[in-house]
Amino acid sequence: MKKTLMIAAAAAFMMTGVVATEAVAGGLLSKCKACHKVDKNATGPSFKNIQAAYGDAATLAKVFEGGFAVADRHIAGDESNANYKKYHKKAKMMSSQYKKLIHKKVEAGKFTYQELAAAVFAK
Ligand code: HEC
Repeated sequence: MKKTLMIAAAAAFMMTGVVATEAVAGGLLSKCKACHKVDKNATGPSFKNIQAAYGDAATLAKVFEGGFAVADRHIAGDESNANYKKYHKKAKMMSSQYKKLIHKKVEAGKFTYQELAAAVFAK
């Protein structure tokens, strides 16, 4: 009896955990989706290509935190990246999005750079 209850409680906990994570990830990236798709390059590079360029969420979070200078970006700032040519000339577009949708919101305490980077890597 006790064991059954514990299993039920554990299952409920795991299910709410998953739902909460997805809700946060979807909410955090809702504005980004105007320009970014998961698998296909669009106005901006796909989340998969961003994952490949940065390797892990901590690295992306660090670049966000450092001000997201074009030279520090792993796609628009790295000539050896396969998507460099396509996106280097569009870097300014992302710079204004960074100010408005990322930097300002982090300053306002809406989310952290780490949480946003993790959401990009959860895609
Ligand atoms: C109005 C369109 C637009 C929106 C909205 C937008 N982006 Fe972008 N994003 C771009 C473009 C264009 C690029 C390519 C230029 C570049 O890489 O700097 C880009 C590039 C990026 C890159 C790769 C930077 C690099 O070069 O290494 C990341 C990471 C990124 N965006 C994250 C986000 C996140 C997170 C959001 C939402 C908070 C977002 N973007 C919203 C247009 C947009």
